[in-house]
Formats: sequence, structure tokens, C-alpha cells
Amino acid sequence: MTPLNLTLLLGAFTIMTTNCSSNHVAGREFGKTPSGEAVELYALKNAKGVEGDISTYGGVLVALKVPDHAGALGDIVLGFDDFQGYQIPPPYFGAIVGRYGNRIAHARFTLGGVEYNLAKNDGDNTLHGGKRGFDKVLWTAKNATGHSLELAYLSKDGEEGYPGNLSVTVTYTLTDNNELKIDYSATTDKDTVVNLTNHSYFNLAGQGEGDILGHELILNADRYTPVDKGLIPTGELRSVAGTPFDFRQPHAIGERIGSSDEQIALGGGYDHNFILNRTGDGLSLAARVTEAKSGRALEVFTTEPAIQFYTGNFLDGTIRGKGGKVYGRRSAFCLETQHYPDSPNQPSFPSTVLKPGAVYRTTTVYRFSTT
Ligand code: BGC
Repeated sequence: MTPLNLTLLLGAFTIMTTNCSSNHVAGREFGKTPSGEAVELYALKNAKGVEGDISTYGGVLVALKVPDHAGALGDIVLGFDDFQGYQIPPPYFGAIVGRYGNRIAHARFTLGGVEYNLAKNDGDNTLHGGKRGFDKVLWTAKNATGHSLELAYLSKDGEEGYPGNLSVTVTYTLTDNNELKIDYSATTDKDTVVNLTNHSYFNLAGQGEGDILGHELILNADRYTPVDKGLIPTGELRSVAGTPFDFRQPHAIGERIGSSDEQIALGGGYDHNFILNRTGDGLSLAARVTEAKSGRALEVFTTEPAIQFYTGNFLDGTIRGKGGKVYGRRSAFCLETQHYPDSPNQPSFPSTVLKPGAVYRTTTVYRFSTT
């Protein structure tokens, strides 16, 4: 073999092994952004036939099909059949939320003696990263294997008012134990704040199949953070004991949602941050939800200290989603693993500050089974 042939052979071998090791499975075209950028949809599947579809726009979990007690797959997340639906921004259906999940009061905070003013998109406050949060940007699909997908996004210094170039990676993995695992990581070149989550709206009976008031819920939380009328935590860590917020034993979501409790009234239902009972730093059970008719069960495990339980109080039937289904009030629930809302302004809350050199890393697992 001549040296040239050998070089060509080695070159071909390198290309082959590179492709094999990255094993990239292509996405399909989902649509185009108004500026003409291609939006892709990646299908994940596990050995048991569970399927998930993820869009590079917003990192949205567009569909998640899991079995019921008879083994029939049903799509249990709200969303749209085509990209068009996501252009009239829906309330964060399935999206990656960032740079800061939930609210920051008066859309400002001070870090290292500097005041940062953020985009206001919720009255006087900022919500879920601002006007163009991570739910409305195009992510780059880095590595798609057919059962996992890595998405990357660089949030520039000053974007929506936040300091520091933040390099973010979110990896979705569908395991053969019927788990959807989401790994989040981020690094920065300037002190900043970070609080990433996923905003899937679940209905275990199937998307668009009525309200979720009959679903039974357990929340592994002794305390929650009560809010003011702008849904900003007051700073108090309140015991759930003896209140409609006590889900330490299973309760139907709707059982106490109409109660006269002042906090239920402020949220228009449940829209609160629950402080998780945790031991250690690893994954720990946050919530369990079951739906009697389908027999589907969802367990949420997380490394995060808290979870936002939101009962779709602002859905009002004006959105028509997949298959033309009408999404009425409380037709889904969200369980958003997170740090507490408004932490950048509340020094007694666990810190959300990320410094250069440190790596932000969190993991949340949604495990599906049947009862
Ligand atoms: C918030 C709600 C908000 C919803 C959709 C939830 O995380 O807590 O107040 O309406 O997201 O935007």
C-alpha cells in the first residue's frame, strides 16, 4: 500500500469512527422561524415503544406518548401538531425555561453591587426569562442518538438584561425504564443567576381529555413559599400542615382547589413553589401523580430544592392544540423543578448565583408507569 492510500484509508476510518461514536440521528423539519431559520423535530424512542418529540425551537417537548394500563400509548403533554402553533406564543407548553424560571420581582436584582434591569413581561415583574426567554430561541441539536438529544444555546451577555455569556446544554434522554431524564448544565463568563426548568403541561388521561382535577397527587414537601398578589414569594416558608397545600398524603388535585384559603385565591388555584423534603444532593422524589381511568402514574425525581405546582389556571379554552383539542382551564398540570422564584432578591433562599469557573448542573427525571 502506498503512503497516499494509507493516508486515505486512515482518513476514511477516522470519519467512520467519528460518525459511529456520535451516531447522530437526523431530525425532521418542523417549520421555519419568521426569519427563515429551519426548526427541527427530533424523535426519541425507547425499547418499550415510549416516544418523545423535541423541537429545536425552545427545546420544546412537543409530544410524549406513554402506555396506559392496557398498554395503549397516549400523548400526555399539551402542544401543537405543527410549528405554526408555537409562533403565537403559547404559555410555555413543553418548553425549556430560562435564564431564570418563574418570577423576579420588579424585573431587577443586584449582584456584586451592580443593579441589573430585566425585561418586564408580567406586569412589573419578569417571568420565565423575559420577553424572549429560552422557550423562544433556536437551540442547536448537538448529539441525537434516537434515545437522547443534546441541545445547546449560548445566551449572550445582556440578553433580556442578564449579565454574562451563559453557555447552556440541555440533554433529554428516554430510558428503557420509561423515564424521561433531563440534564441541564451551564457555565458563565461573569457572575449571573440561573434557574432552568421544563414547562411541560401534563394530563395523564391524554392531552385534551378534560381537566386534571381528578388526578391524585403526592408532593414530598412540608413547606411552601406563599406569594403576594403579583405571585412573588413573600419570603415566608410556610408549613403545609392543615392547609390545601398539604399533599404529603395523596389528594385529588381538585379536592381543595376551590377552598377559601387566601393563597389559593391569589394563585387562582395552585401556582406555588413547594420546598422539597430532601436528603443529600442526588435525585430525590418530589411528586407522584396518578390518574385512575388510564392507570397512568408519573413520578418526578430531581436534584433541585423545589417544585412549582401549577394547575393551568390561566388556560381558558381559547387554545386549540394537537388534534384540534380545546385546552380548557385546568386541563393540565405542571411540575416545574426549580430554585425558588425571586431568589436573586431574597438572600434567605438557596442561591441561584453562578460564577465563572463553576458549572451549573441539575437533573430531573419523569418516570412513567401504570397503577
Ligand atoms: C407560573 C404561572 C404562569 C405559568 C405559565 C408557571 O410557572 O407559575 O404563574 O402563568 O407558568 O406562564
